[in-house]
Amino acid sequence: MKRTYPPPEIVTEMCTGCGLCAEVCPSFVLDMVGTKALVVRGEWCIGCGHCGAVCPVEAVVHETIADERAPRPGRRPATTADTLLMLLRERRSVRLYRNEPISDEILEQIIEAGRYAPTGSNSQNVHYVILRSSSEIASLRNMTMAFYEKVFSRVRKPIGALLLSLLAGRRIVEYLRELLPKVEYVKGLIEEGKDPLFYNAPVVMVVHAESWDTCSAFNCAVAIYNCSLMAHTMGVGCCFNGYLMSAANNDRKIKQWLGIPRDHRCFGAMTLGYQEVEFQRLVERTPAKVSWR
Ligand SMILES: Cc1cc2nc3c(=O)[nH]c(=O)nc-3n(C[C@H](O)[C@H](O)[C@H](O)COP(=O)(O)O)c2cc1C
Repeated sequence: MKRTYPPPEIVTEMCTGCGLCAEVCPSFVLDMVGTKALVVRGEWCIGCGHCGAVCPVEAVVHETIADERAPRPGRRPATTADTLLMLLRERRSVRLYRNEPISDEILEQIIEAGRYAPTGSNSQNVHYVILRSSSEIASLRNMTMAFYEKVFSRVRKPIGALLLSLLAGRRIVEYLRELLPKVEYVKGLIEEGKDPLFYNAPVVMVVHAESWDTCSAFNCAVAIYNCSLMAHTMGVGCCFNGYLMSAANNDRKIKQWLGIPRDHRCFGAMTLGYQEVEFQRLVERTPAKVSWR
């Protein structure tokens, strides 16, 4: 269901007629009529709050406007380019976790970062599943492992590989075949009692959203990435988990167990925990593949 918002209200006596609210509205809700802003297409409001946030005299009233003020004109954004770039570079995938729980307060703050992520049409359609119990995480681990056992046993057999390539495409089967030596190695690790899937993390986060919405994948990815950055600032390490994401979408039992509705897809997953090691150095990435036009 698409969320609907009550449209903004204009306090006409206060409106100075600057027109900024109408200019910034992405949904054509406001027009300038004479020297005043007027709500003319209220039913199209997506609740982004730009109108009220930009109004210099607080003549736009909308439920989404927060009490806090944004930085005043001329002030810098909350961080600098250098600080932001360093934050982005020093965030790394963390696969060694201390055996220490993360408090709900910290997890709520991490989710808060996801809540402020942008979403297509301001749908705010990202749903979170937070697993905090080691027995639940163990159950999910077992189910995910069982799913991949099944997948790789198919990949090993010619007929299974053929069926799988018809279902999922030839390239993915080639990729899975290349993974086979690693899979054997990982099996050995599991037999030794290690956890190469969730790295014994105390928390697992999954994000999901409606499949019909073409922006859902992006919405979820941005939200979970925001969460990972917030976690990093709080000393909590994260590692995205493509294996879980794929298993949640391709194994009905796992999807159901996670409480993901049938008309949703899982668009992101990650493990979280206090990190055991400190990274001493930054790493380089390959040059950006840019087509300057
Ligand atoms: C969509 C996605 C899926 C990932 N899946 C896994 C995974 O299942 N297991 C894992 O250990 N790391 C996973 N990673 C982490 C990547 O391996 C990691 O981001 C990459 O090697 C770069 O390292 P960095 O995150 O430390 O900068 C995933 C990352 C992304 C973005």
